[in-house]
Amino acid sequence: MSRVILSPQHPLSAGLTGDSRLVRAYRGERSDTTPVWFMRQAGRSLPEYRDLRVGTRMLDACLDPGMASEITLQPVRRHKVDAGIFFSDIVVPLKLVGVDVEIQPGRGPVFSKGYADAAGVAELTSIDPARLDAASGPITEAVQRTVAELNVTAPSGISTGSTSSATGSTSGSAASTRSTPLIGFAGAPFTLAAYLAEGGPSKDHLAARTLMHADPGAWSALMEWTAELTGRFLRTQVLAGASAAQLFDSWAGALSLADYETHVAPASAKALAHVHDLSYEVADASGTTETRPVPVVHFGVGTGELLGAMHGIGVDTVGVDYRVPLDVAAHRVGADVPLQGNLDPALLAAPWPVLEAAVRDVLARGKAAPAHVFNLGHGVPPETDPTVLTRVVELVHEAGA
Ligand code: CP3
Repeated sequence: MSRVILSPQHPLSAGLTGDSRLVRAYRGERSDTTPVWFMRQAGRSLPEYRDLRVGTRMLDACLDPGMASEITLQPVRRHKVDAGIFFSDIVVPLKLVGVDVEIQPGRGPVFSKGYADAAGVAELTSIDPARLDAASGPITEAVQRTVAELNVTAPSGISTGSTSSATGSTSGSAASTRSTPLIGFAGAPFTLAAYLAEGGPSKDHLAARTLMHADPGAWSALMEWTAELTGRFLRTQVLAGASAAQLFDSWAGALSLADYETHVAPASAKALAHVHDLSYEVADASGTTETRPVPVVHFGVGTGELLGAMHGIGVDTVGVDYRVPLDVAAHRVGADVPLQGNLDPALLAAPWPVLEAAVRDVLARGKAAPAHVFNLGHGVPPETDPTVLTRVVELVHEAGA
């Protein structure tokens, strides 16, 4: 695999985010304290988000660079989290290549039909995934605008976890030597296929699970296609300025380990191949140049049985949902793997002493891993009081030191 070096302006190459708490943790290093961000930190829990979204449909908001950028920045400003997560959705690349999809409030992605058989898959895969690159202008622009803002805002107020003097900076200017990293993301092929086969959200993803056995040829064509599409979506975000990439296989927990390994993991690996070649260079004090890969995280819900396999597709960090304690997860993936997670989101609505004890428990168990990025075990519930999230960030920074 030949390496592609990110441009000198990229926050990783420019020395702005490579030594942030987040990126260091994804490399397996601990910093002054434990980094924290929340899945779905942008969104309905924030009144400023609800105000901005009035009258704009979800996917239109994702494709408006000014709006997507502003929504990404809202939780960073408010909570002082250690990362922004790009405001978009796993179905955005499908929309961009012309698949008829919308996001219904309270429900999720809904397609004009299901793609559950060979004919449906043939129709879908007749679209060339490479078309995404020409259609990705709004994504590139939104990421660029977001990263520019993160660069400007970081030194004045946002803690980015530098413990030592600037290292590895090839072009970091005096005005802006640290920045909050932006995480790019994409849906894993299975999770996208779960929506596509069904034509919308479902509890058990039966249509996808049937197709993978009933017509393995059609299934693998569908997985190849989604891998190609979603991998390109991820690559676009990293090239535009994201400092890490997270693959969401939210619904992989519906699968047996055998089905995951045979029918799903190879496609997820193919999706990640679209970012695995992306690297940046850092110079140490002696002037020796080291090339580092862009860190990659892999997360799913209810994937306790799959954690080892999910690490095995070639990721740096494994995201763990709330069902498996982090010390148990560390045992399953190996003691050298950084972990991300895993406060039960339900506890955000519990009395503070209960929540505080749970946060401290997650931090204590996270010590079983070489490094830990604090997060929830799944997304922020829309009804969450945002002041509670801010308080959790403060507690993690104080107790996680
Ligand atoms: O802050 C962030 O985490 C970044 C934004 C983000 C969104 N979707 C915005 C969004 C991310 C990372 C996603 C990924 C996503 N989308 C996943 C994987 C992560 C996970 O939660 O498991 C999945 C499965 C989807 C599909 C999807 N899109 C669902 C299930 C929903 C929720 C439907 C609802 O209304 O409850 C969406 C819509 C969506 N995506 C919203 C947001 C903020 C809510 C839309 C709104 O605010 O109107």
